Amino acid sequence: MDVFEAINKRRSIRRFKPDPIPDEHIAKLLESARKAPSGTNSQPWRFIVIKDDETKKELQRAANNQRHVGSPPVVIACCADMKSFAEFPERIDELIEAGALPKNSRKFFVPSLKKRMNATPKSSLQIAAAGNVAIAITNMMLQATELGLGTCWVRWFDNNKVNEILEIPDHVEVQALLAIGVPDEAPNPRPRLKLDEITYYEKYGNKL
Ligand SMILES: Cc1cc2nc3c(=O)[nH]c(=O)nc-3n(C[C@H](O)[C@H](O)[C@H](O)COP(=O)(O)O)c2cc1C
Repeated sequence: MDVFEAINKRRSIRRFKPDPIPDEHIAKLLESARKAPSGTNSQPWRFIVIKDDETKKELQRAANNQRHVGSPPVVIACCADMKSFAEFPERIDELIEAGALPKNSRKFFVPSLKKRMNATPKSSLQIAAAGNVAIAITNMMLQATELGLGTCWVRWFDNNKVNEILEIPDHVEVQALLAIGVPDEAPNPRPRLKLDEITYYEKYGNKL
């Protein structure tokens, strides 16, 4: 299956068969997430693989009783570690080591990023964290499609309750619960805006 096929085939799946998911498949999903790009290669994503039925039921209750949180064989809680943004000097060194940045760029990048980081409000870091983790989640959803698995990205939950259930530390924020399993439904594509409703040329608002 090529990428465009996976993009076209993916649906949010809310009914799952009870079939277990092989550990190799879970490992492949996590590996797909790990390869995602992120700002300054910060890689803020952290994942909790949840198979325990009682934990899934508790999460379902914390997620406004959405059945597809309690029913799939696996739920992956996709989190952002807010501490990872402070670790950019190490990430810059790794990028230099890998040849992705010129050797002398540390002198420039580290002080300027430090300055920017100190001036960045927490809310902006939270937006960055959400964006970075979203890419990793998308990678997992597309890889799951290729493996014949269905997923549903769930964000509608009570953060405090989920944090308590999963023993999330203060510096970590749960971005999504990703329900994963063999689909027990084959929904039609959901509606999308037309391409000419979302695309402009050269300046915002210019249509062809
Ligand atoms: C950030 C985000 C949050 C979402 N939260 C929920 C949710 O809490 N519960 C749910 O059933 N679906 C949720 N979804 C799935 C959307 O409803 C779904 O992607 C959208 O309706 C389009 O359908 P499709 O994914 O089948 O194309 C979420 C999707 C995203 C990207």
